[in-house]
Amino acid sequence: MELKRICIVGGAGHVGLPLAMMLAERGFTVDILDRNDAALDVLRAGRMPFMEEGGEELLRKVLPTGRLKMTTDPAVVREAQAVICVIGTPVDEHLSPDLVGFYRVIDEMRPHFRDGQTLILRSTVYPGLSERIHRMFRESGPNVHVAFCPERVAQGHSLREIRDLPQIVSAFDAEGLAVARQLFSEVARELIDVKPMEAELAKLMCNCYRYITFAIANQFHMLATDAGVDFAQVHRATTLHYPRTEHMPRPGLAAGPCLLKDTMQLAAFANNNFFLGHAAMLVNEGQPQFIVNCLKRRTELRTKRVGILGMTFKADCDDTRDSLCFKLRKLLMLEAREVVMHDPYLDGEGYLPLAEVLAGCDVIVVGVPHKEYRGLRIPAGKVVEDVWNCLAKEQGA
Ligand SMILES: NC(=O)c1ccc[n+]([C@@H]2O[C@H](COP(=O)([O-])OP(=O)(O)OC[C@H]3O[C@@H](n4cnc5c(N)ncnc54)[C@H](O)[C@@H]3O)[C@@H](O)[C@H]2O)c1
Repeated sequence: MELKRICIVGGAGHVGLPLAMMLAERGFTVDILDRNDAALDVLRAGRMPFMEEGGEELLRKVLPTGRLKMTTDPAVVREAQAVICVIGTPVDEHLSPDLVGFYRVIDEMRPHFRDGQTLILRSTVYPGLSERIHRMFRESGPNVHVAFCPERVAQGHSLREIRDLPQIVSAFDAEGLAVARQLFSEVARELIDVKPMEAELAKLMCNCYRYITFAIANQFHMLATDAGVDFAQVHRATTLHYPRTEHMPRPGLAAGPCLLKDTMQLAAFANNNFFLGHAAMLVNEGQPQFIVNCLKRRTELRTKRVGILGMTFKADCDDTRDSLCFKLRKLLMLEAREVVMHDPYLDGEGYLPLAEVLAGCDVIVVGVPHKEYRGLRIPAGKVVEDVWNCLAKEQGA
């Protein structure tokens, strides 16, 4: 089958949009189907709704071709040979995966599908969800081929990583697999064929592995700091020119919309017996309180004005989803006289210019090591807490 028209459900999101633009650049007509009207308006105006390396340039290139279309109307699904679904898959307030919500979205779109189409699931899903959706189509029609091809990019670098990383492909029949292979061989260098359940587990395990690795670094940092030892020196001694540990991450706030929730999805799948995953959660989610405790040992916070540098979930991006900096802020608000924030990518209530934060706060805490903060010199006399070790050395009290 010649693939010409692709629909991306959730196509205005962080994962959907870069892929939509790349496919449009490759010559496909791509319908972005998204319920976020505001993001679609921003796109129509030629701007990116979020930061993405190379995003604005590619958008300006593909928009005039007319091949990148945007709508909120699910009827557009009917026009496509392949429909890619990349809506969010959060865990609920009990950290349980919301299978029903995802299943319901697909079920609601089902009247717009027709025989012979391929539905490619690209969100990170609870293991077995693709099979359920495949069965739903088998049992009640139409005759849609279901594939599962997870996204593994690091947010903000999708345009480069979609091209450079191997793409995992899986499907429940040969037709679906052929379409998935045809589509992704247009944008990815290498394809890895596995069964759907293998692909679902592989994607979750990629994220869990990272989350647990961050937890190791964080726990080592806590352990050394509690012993009065500078962990930056320990890390250097542990990793420098030593191949067996050179990939050990540095400590920090391990946050964002994917790592914790995917670890919890795997934990739910493992009947909540995923000890390493839960232990990693305790360590990583405990880091903000650890930072506050370190400060309390060094100063009387009750009388102090605290400034947090950086509030996004990771450096050099504008995304605050599930950022642990807000947990840090809440904890500090319980202890300090006042807490203010700076972030080069954010503004609003509570945010101040960097110079004001540096001049007017008694305590400076690094939330996220944006490039603006790397090597930054803090005025003398401040109490500084820099878990990321990104500021200039020899400063503060
Ligand atoms: N963000 C990442 O870097 C990343 C990387 C790999 C995998 N993932 C996975 O990809 C999936 C999407 O993540 P994201 O960060 O792009 O989320 P996102 O919130 O940025 O994007 C999801 C998009 O889906 C839209 N949407 C939700 N429900 C819809 C519906 N019923 N109809 C039409 N549009 C709908 C939203 O408006 C939003 O634009 C998740 O499963 C996530 O775990 C994310």
